[in-house]
Amino acid sequence: LTVWLVGAGPGDPELLTVRAAAVLARADVVVHDALVGSGVLDLAPARAERIDVGKRPGAPVPQGDINELLVELARRHDTVVRLKGGDPYVFGRGGEEALALLEANVAFEVIPGISAAFAAPLTAGVPVTHRGVSASVTVLTGHRRHGEPEPDWAALSMLIVHGGTVVVLMGVGQRAVIAAELMGHGVQAQTTVAITAHATTRRQHVMRCRLDQLAATAIETPAVITIGAVAALDLRPRRPPAG
Ligand SMILES: C[S@@+](CC[C@H](N)C(=O)[O-])C[C@H]1O[C@@H](n2cnc3c(N)ncnc32)[C@H](O)[C@@H]1O
Repeated sequence: LTVWLVGAGPGDPELLTVRAAAVLARADVVVHDALVGSGVLDLAPARAERIDVGKRPGAPVPQGDINELLVELARRHDTVVRLKGGDPYVFGRGGEEALALLEANVAFEVIPGISAAFAAPLTAGVPVTHRGVSASVTVLTGHRRHGEPEPDWAALSMLIVHGGTVVVLMGVGQRAVIAAELMGHGVQAQTTVAITAHATTRRQHVMRCRLDQLAATAIETPAVITIGAVAALDLRPRRPPAG
């Protein structure tokens, strides 16, 4: 009688933790997000019920309904797996689900996952805290609810000016604003930006541009935008020349 809040990692099933794979293999029911790929879901037994609560534009499942669903499923099943992209507590609203389970007195465990916040820059060849270049990495959401305060653009810009790294999740729709605010607060227009869409999946796509080109750069989603001096490094393994 346990609900498992499980981090599914950024996409590639091989990037699941061993514990996540073991719990998935004995799931009675899997409640998952849109970002969790079929390769990961295939690790659950065929008999396990799969419930997609993916928040797609137009038809979002309200968070309160997901919380209630988890509590209700926990009454009927031994192993309820709540599978979330990346890490459950990094912009995944896993904290709200944990709170709801605590309040309902439902036993639960949380399994961390590899967050896209780190996997995506890495797949672009960016070492987010490269020694001598960047001593900090700040993870930011580009998306906020109506009325939520703006990020402290001056503070973020100062970090980047001093070599720090800013990693933006859910930032594609706001990329013009992000670039304008950072440049308006002193970040150089030629600062490199690394973009990884569909990191660790077959659709993975890496791009680089200058900060002043970010607004005009077409980007597929989901994507992570990495801004700062380290983004100019590209440590992706080179293929040996053919022949
Ligand atoms: C709601 S947040 C969830 C983040 C997740 N909990 C994590 O730790 O990776 C969704 C955002 O994560 C990023 N994201 C998730 N998976 C990704 C992937 N495979 N490639 C690029 N970005 C990804 C995108 O910025 C997307 O808008």
